[in-house]
Amino acid sequence: MSIVLTARDLTRHYEISRGLFKPAALVRALNGVSFDLAAGKTLAVVGESGCGKSTLARALTLIEQPSSGSLQIAGQEVAGADKAQRKQLRRDVQMVFQNPYASLNPRQKIGDQLAEPLQINTRLSRAERRERVQAMMQQVGLRPEHYQRYPHMFSGGQRQRIALARAMMLNPKVLVADEPTSALDVSIQAQVLNLFMDLQEQYETGYVFISHNLSVVRHVADDVLVMYLGRPVEMGPSAEIYARPLHPYTQALLSATPTLHPDPSKPKIKIVGELPNPLAPPSGCAFHQRCPHASARCQQEVPPLRLLEARQVACHHAEAINS
Ligand SMILES: Nc1ncnc2c1ncn2[C@@H]1O[C@H](COP(=O)(O)OP(=O)(O)O)[C@@H](O)[C@H]1O
Ligand SMILES: [Mg+2]
Repeated sequence: MSIVLTARDLTRHYEISRGLFKPAALVRALNGVSFDLAAGKTLAVVGESGCGKSTLARALTLIEQPSSGSLQIAGQEVAGADKAQRKQLRRDVQMVFQNPYASLNPRQKIGDQLAEPLQINTRLSRAERRERVQAMMQQVGLRPEHYQRYPHMFSGGQRQRIALARAMMLNPKVLVADEPTSALDVSIQAQVLNLFMDLQEQYETGYVFISHNLSVVRHVADDVLVMYLGRPVEMGPSAEIYARPLHPYTQALLSATPTLHPDPSKPKIKIVGELPNPLAPPSGCAFHQRCPHASARCQQEVPPLRLLEARQVACHHAEAINS
């Protein structure tokens, strides 16, 4: 199994100006994330809005530089890569955004937009490029006559198909998808998800699939990373985490998602309160103010990620509350 993406203790801090006479404040949007992603596998990143998912996506796709930590794409260390290596890295990792309209050029025909990555990065002739574009369009369920059309002539679902086609044109090693189906009608979310999975199977791409909704990623994830206020709180194989979440936050997220066959033996856990202010994060475990199991220790000590029941979990009381 070849590893296509390695993140080690990635952080990203933002300085926020609070006016002329106050010192700038620091938001630790991403606060120590580590994982490995293998070719053809999907890591789902989940958590409430504001927990740092998009910040992680921007770091992984080289849109922003991390504040610290290391990142390897297809075995190449990102920090210290020279110009030619960076160019290759930008080919190897592609991104699909929540709003496909924002990532497409409204004044350029779809066919030309899909051909563009080939034009910039390969020596294919115009005819060869066109052939590749037509093949990819067919794969994502677009018809040949769509080549000549503009983005506004498509539905949201079709536009996301186009954005996915564009991201896959150069056969990237890694695809980062940031809430790619959240803006779509529920009825077409599943179709678009299936398309992601079909392409992954064919190209062996490693996916980082971001969602605020654990149930959306249930059937696509091999591994799950649950984030809270910039930190991983639980991470491991999807089968383990869905069957038996150990962190109270994961438990709450899962019990908040509707299921067809609710298990009456499992009490509903509600997350109380709001996500804390990231400018003034709580001491100790960032989740303690909203956690039904929090103790004095949780107010003081940050729980480290540790191995428990085939996954990593950051909770002082994980054993006690799951026994
Ligand atoms: N460019 C930025 N400048 C300052 N703060 C930012 C910036 N981008 C994100 N943040 C802050 O970082 C935190 C995480 O944001 P984000 O990564 O967008 O979360 P998510 O995608 O999970 O909703 C939030 O508190 C957000 O306000
Ligand atoms: Mg986001």
